[in-house]
Amino acid sequence: MAAKTRVVMIGAGAVGSTTAYTLLLRNRMDELVLIDVNHKKAEGDALDMNHGMPFLGGAKVWAGTYEDCRDADIIIITAGAAQREGESRVDLLRRNVAIFDSIIEEVMKFNDHGILLIATNPVDIMSYFSWKKLQWPVHRVIGSGTLLDSARFRYLIGDKLNIDPRSVHAHIIGEHGDSELPLWSLANVAGSEVQLSEAEREEVFVNTRDAAYQIISAKGATYYAIALALDRICTAILRDEGAVLNVSTLLHDYHGVSDVFLGVPCVVDRSGVRKVIDIPITAEEKELLHRSADKLKGLIASIAS
Ligand code: NAD
Ligand code: LAC
Repeated sequence: MAAKTRVVMIGAGAVGSTTAYTLLLRNRMDELVLIDVNHKKAEGDALDMNHGMPFLGGAKVWAGTYEDCRDADIIIITAGAAQREGESRVDLLRRNVAIFDSIIEEVMKFNDHGILLIATNPVDIMSYFSWKKLQWPVHRVIGSGTLLDSARFRYLIGDKLNIDPRSVHAHIIGEHGDSELPLWSLANVAGSEVQLSEAEREEVFVNTRDAAYQIISAKGATYYAIALALDRICTAILRDEGAVLNVSTLLHDYHGVSDVFLGVPCVVDRSGVRKVIDIPITAEEKELLHRSADKLKGLIASIAS
């Protein structure tokens, strides 16, 4: 009998439970475990999702403990503090590092073979911190990176051009946050440069970069699009797709940037991040990438001290 596929979700808040529900709707795994410091919330979610099973693919869902990480193929972390209105992702750093310290400690006790997928913010630093602590091969620690930002970017470009966002190819790289950058030099529709004025490009990028602030101010949190982005990454892993996704990974001399996790185009398959794609970028884009990396490195140094 084929081994069962198990996904463990640590954090059953807005992002965790929406992602769990998305994975279930799309029938991605046989077993789904929800872990939360608020165990009652995880239990309630599991019950609610199980009551939908007559309409779904028959996965087993339960509110578990860290021991359930033992057989996990993918462990997703969405636990921790989320931004309140007016806060940046970086404002969450110290609170979430403290939370991750104990979560990673528990994961390490029970799993040494899975893939860790992180969404908690600031996601690039949380991914770096987790990798350092776990000491797993780096290809098995993945941050959701700028996959969500790239989706927002593609949607907003498509909206301006009246083109389906799936036919818009465009990347946001760098920090998932205020220092991210748009790669206009590579943005295209059917290989042709995106026909937008400078002012329109600026508007599209600012709306991409600041999307989370806009949504948090309107309804307190973002969760639908990130759930779909996390589902996309899980699918690339579980189906061994070799999909190119802008996830956060450790860089080694990437346009001169090293020793920091940042969102860049990566090939994602059953091994995790199989390869980082070396894209051609302009001198100006390279300068912005370095600024983004320097910002994160400064923050990493601040938590080490
Ligand atoms: P939330 O407050 O709704 O949920 C967080 C959950 O974490 C809560 O259920 C809480 O009980 C749980 N938790 C806290 N400490 C824990 C611990 N030690 N162990 C287990 N569970 C614990 O927040 P949310 O809106 O779901 O956001 C979660 C995180 O995801 C935030 O850091 C947010 O900024 C981030 N986020 C990232 C992206 C992205 O693109 N990477 C998108 C949206 C949100
Ligand atoms: C986002 C989160 C808040 O939606 O990082 O971008």
